[in-house]
Amino acid sequence: MRAFPSIEDLRQRARRNVPKLFFDYVEAGSYTQQTLRANCADMAGIPLRQRVLVDVDQRSTATTILGETASAPLALGPIGLGGMLYGDGEILACRAAQAAGIPYTLSTMSINSIEDVAGAVDKPFWFQLYVMRDRGFMRELVQRAQAAKCSALMLTVDLQVLGQRHCDVRNGLTVPPQINVRNVIDVITKPAWAWSILKGKRKTFGNLAGHVKGMEGVGSLAQWTASQFDPSLSWKDIEWIKSLWPGKLILKGVLDVQDARIAVKTGVIAISVSNHGGRQLDGAPSAISALPRVVDAVGADLEVLFDSGVRSGADIMRALALGARSCIVGRAYLYGLGADGQAGVARAIEILQKELDVIMALCGVKRVAEINRQVLAGYDEPSNSLPL
Ligand code: GLV
Repeated sequence: MRAFPSIEDLRQRARRNVPKLFFDYVEAGSYTQQTLRANCADMAGIPLRQRVLVDVDQRSTATTILGETASAPLALGPIGLGGMLYGDGEILACRAAQAAGIPYTLSTMSINSIEDVAGAVDKPFWFQLYVMRDRGFMRELVQRAQAAKCSALMLTVDLQVLGQRHCDVRNGLTVPPQINVRNVIDVITKPAWAWSILKGKRKTFGNLAGHVKGMEGVGSLAQWTASQFDPSLSWKDIEWIKSLWPGKLILKGVLDVQDARIAVKTGVIAISVSNHGGRQLDGAPSAISALPRVVDAVGADLEVLFDSGVRSGADIMRALALGARSCIVGRAYLYGLGADGQAGVARAIEILQKELDVIMALCGVKRVAEINRQVLAGYDEPSNSLPL
């Protein structure tokens, strides 16, 4: 096993392995990337409270997520084009998550299809849904997720139009990649990547191929998204989606307290407080700064998950301290996937889990359920305000 002591080590390896076009896609935030930067900077600005001489033997990071046991308060999030970082990337990531005992979410915009993944893993996974104009196709997608025994549906609510990531425009991001001199050089200098993609089952969007018209010959991913995604999606449609999917429904991308209160009324089991990893509304507050208010408003009524800015075990601790029940990661595990396929994802999960375990010990906490604002430095006194 290669030595990857940190998520940053996996990131550096992924940067070397994966063609720039796909690595940039993973890294990017929208427009000026100020929200992307704020997600990480605000996270790092939350000090943890060092405690000593507390018996922290027999600790556990185990918890429950949507009522199911999990080895850590962690899930792998839905990533479009995951399978372009490594051949069969979604199957491999799902296997790594299931072996580690945490949930995996397959994206609508994945390379492996729902059926590919279901046929290659032992346990149920979550499926993420984008609402497209073609409602017949949406219904079909939900039915496919049901047939594959997916255990939760995650509806992304913050991407009805796409925030532009400038690098994707510069790089001419298409799937499969646009054939031009720069991309050809990029690919032939990444032989391990090219081999894995060649061996992989698919080279395009597995859930859409053969189902959605107009996928072939699209100028760019952004153009295609603009033509297919439904900007008229509104709260009314949640009822419709619930009628198709009576199971567990998560709304991902709620940042505002008022929206969170409406989400409670719809009866969803969970929301994820998120700004889409800084990839959508540039200028939105960091997700971690929005979290405490949302938790205070709705934390008793539904399960509050968190994503956008989680790169370490300390970050998971901070989000849990501010009331999230568990965290969803994207980039942190994609670096592992790009670095070393399934073993790299397994390593990313292990890094996050071990970091959390050590951070818990050094904060004097033995159980995930004990984590609250008291683990943040300076917030032990009720009179003290939150850091954000
Ligand atoms: C899709 O979810 C993206 O952020 O590109």
